[in-house]
Amino acid sequence: MADKVTVSLIKADVGSIAGHSRPHPKMMEVAALTLDKGVKDGLLNDFYVTRCGDDMELLMTHRNGENHKGVHELAWNAFMAASEAAKKMRLYAAGQDLLSDAFSGNVRGQGPGAAEMEFEERPTEPMIVLMADKCGPAAYSLPISKIYMDPFTTTGLVIDPRAHLGYDIEVVDVVDNKRVVMSSPAEMYDILALIGDTTRYAVKRVIHRDIGVGAVVSTEKLNMLAGKYVGKDDPVMMVRCQSGLPAAGEVLQPFAFPQLVAGWMRGSHYGAWFPCAVDESTPSYFDGPPRVCALGIQISNGMIQGLESPGSKPGDHCPIDYFAGKEWDPVRNKAMDISMYMRGHGPFMPGIVSPDELEYTTRPEILKKLEPRMQPLE
Ligand code: 13P
Ligand code: 13P
Ligand code: MG
Ligand code: MG
Repeated sequence: MADKVTVSLIKADVGSIAGHSRPHPKMMEVAALTLDKGVKDGLLNDFYVTRCGDDMELLMTHRNGENHKGVHELAWNAFMAASEAAKKMRLYAAGQDLLSDAFSGNVRGQGPGAAEMEFEERPTEPMIVLMADKCGPAAYSLPISKIYMDPFTTTGLVIDPRAHLGYDIEVVDVVDNKRVVMSSPAEMYDILALIGDTTRYAVKRVIHRDIGVGAVVSTEKLNMLAGKYVGKDDPVMMVRCQSGLPAAGEVLQPFAFPQLVAGWMRGSHYGAWFPCAVDESTPSYFDGPPRVCALGIQISNGMIQGLESPGSKPGDHCPIDYFAGKEWDPVRNKAMDISMYMRGHGPFMPGIVSPDELEYTTRPEILKKLEPRMQPLE
């Protein structure tokens, strides 16, 4: 429908410098040129290219709905162009998340992660874009539980008549590729019984019963798609805020708890989630710690509005970088303390993830080699 806007956030890691650090600015430049062409061709309304650690993030607005072939192909081409630039510079892991050479209709299943939402724009449409590195999509399940199900976090659930209705929560089983929509608060304990298992379940979508979609997470499980280790999901989440939905501050507050998330170093360790500015998101301690960034924008007549002044270049937005502030220093310090403590476990659980969650393993070979020496217990 013409009056609806679609916000698509498609992300991939297509190469970085000196390990899994950050994309080269040239890569982001060529991706932006590709998206700019999409605007000129009338496919996109607007776009913003950013990053979290080594993951490139393409934020796009358009009128074509979710899973639109043309929009996905444009994002794919932007990643291909960035990947070519990375290959020319012989950067590390160039093309890491692009699992095939040719686009086949939708980026899902081809390596990149995608979060998309189509909605009718409210008179004012504040949005927070969360982007993570070195972790999986279930990392957002705890903050989502607090934002949408915990009245001690979101006072709006109690005192805002529009928020009082509760939310529908779509939970996906990333192992069996199934999904179920559950109702909060009525089924809150059932929801928590599932999503507490962060190795299998993740929240895909949160829906307000009047306003419509409230939040969307990219839940592609890249390592499973490829059938072998090719990198972590490093998921994104988009959240609509205010006026019946959680206030921006209610969305951000849960990130003050530096929860342990899986996917750090070789995709195989637990580390404390470190909230930071985009410019501070380059991993520096044991390829981490796992990062999360939060950008605030407005969706305005189908366009992205940040702090840019009128007449800025296309794609030249200046979002509010919410975790840049000093308020988050105590959280960062705590996250570093916890991450260093977790490192104290070395290759022991729970410093590392469970055996079936390891991104790669030597165990079958070791067991094979030891087979002749294995003795039954007395
Ligand atoms: P809204 O009514 O726009 O959600 O604002 C609530 C508020 O004051 C946020 O702190
Ligand atoms: P990325 O998934 O961010 O590329 O990191 C891979 C890794 O395991 C780094 O140690
Ligand atoms: Mg990488
Ligand atoms: Mg990454």
